[in-house]
Amino acid sequence: KEYVVGVDLGGTKILTAVADLEGNILARVRKDTEAEKGKEAVIQKIKDTVYGVIKETDIDLSQVKGIGLGVPGPVNIKKGVIKHTPNLKLDNVNIIEELRELDTPIFLENDANAAALGEKWFGAGKAAENMIYMTVSTGIGGGVIINKEIFHGAGDAAGEIGHMTIIPDSDVQCGCGNYGCWEAIASGTALGRLGREAVEAGKDTLMSKLVNDPSEVNGAVVAKAAEKGDKVAREIMDKIADYLGIGMASLINIFNPDTIVIGGGVSQSWKLIEDKVNSTIKARAMNSLIEDVNIITAQLGSDVGVLGAVATALAELDLL
Ligand code: BGC
Ligand code: NA
Ligand code: ZN
Repeated sequence: KEYVVGVDLGGTKILTAVADLEGNILARVRKDTEAEKGKEAVIQKIKDTVYGVIKETDIDLSQVKGIGLGVPGPVNIKKGVIKHTPNLKLDNVNIIEELRELDTPIFLENDANAAALGEKWFGAGKAAENMIYMTVSTGIGGGVIINKEIFHGAGDAAGEIGHMTIIPDSDVQCGCGNYGCWEAIASGTALGRLGREAVEAGKDTLMSKLVNDPSEVNGAVVAKAAEKGDKVAREIMDKIADYLGIGMASLINIFNPDTIVIGGGVSQSWKLIEDKVNSTIKARAMNSLIEDVNIITAQLGSDVGVLGAVATALAELDLL
């Protein structure tokens, strides 16, 4: 029997799984990325997770037809080069060379593009033909599917939706160097920053009671307080929802998608922001295009990245 391996390389964790050719996961291994330990350490960890996940099963590495690898930034697929990772210091790594000892074809893909393929083939987007997957967590990533295939662009990097400028005069700098990018102002990171600022400013909010120190306020803390009805946290969620709607309105106008799938940490709070996102879209996108689009949340949960990497390998091997 034949298998593929998927590796989801993220800012905080590496999740690696082995799956059969139908995308059923047999085993998973998860390790903290610890990017601060440097490139070499991260590369070694990727190898360890691959060996580790094979060991968890009774299959042999020679039965693995390919390894899909999703990384958070633009990549050169043919050369196997990670070009730039705004939130993880892995710029200019040739990952195919680094993983040569695995002696298995490596298929590199941007994490959000991979996740888009995962949701398209195994998750919420099965019926979609023109779909945008967007992930809102540490950053904002996107995968654009046109006529059921991922759109790669001239240099494999199409879909970098998180780096469109939303606030031209913003003083919030993005990991890419620009100011006022969508991900700098509307990601989970931005949510946490706004929460922290409110607590530091001494605002009367439940958020200050949920942490020992203002520096511990992150997106999840803001969401939790908002869920409990905290007014300050709710206002922050509304602000983020408005920014998300502004960007999504442009995506709808540009791509006329039938489906937008929302993933990432912020999608877990979708119920809290949905109405505001929709009212902003209604105000800012062209009405006839809004009618065509179905906005839904991702179905694959924490497996979206790894199943996306599996789907990437299967797509490249012509097995999808
Ligand atoms: C990167 C994207 C990535 C997204 C989510 C962004 O900062 O530029 O390539 O998809 O983060 O990880
Ligand atoms: Na992308
Ligand atoms: Zn940016």
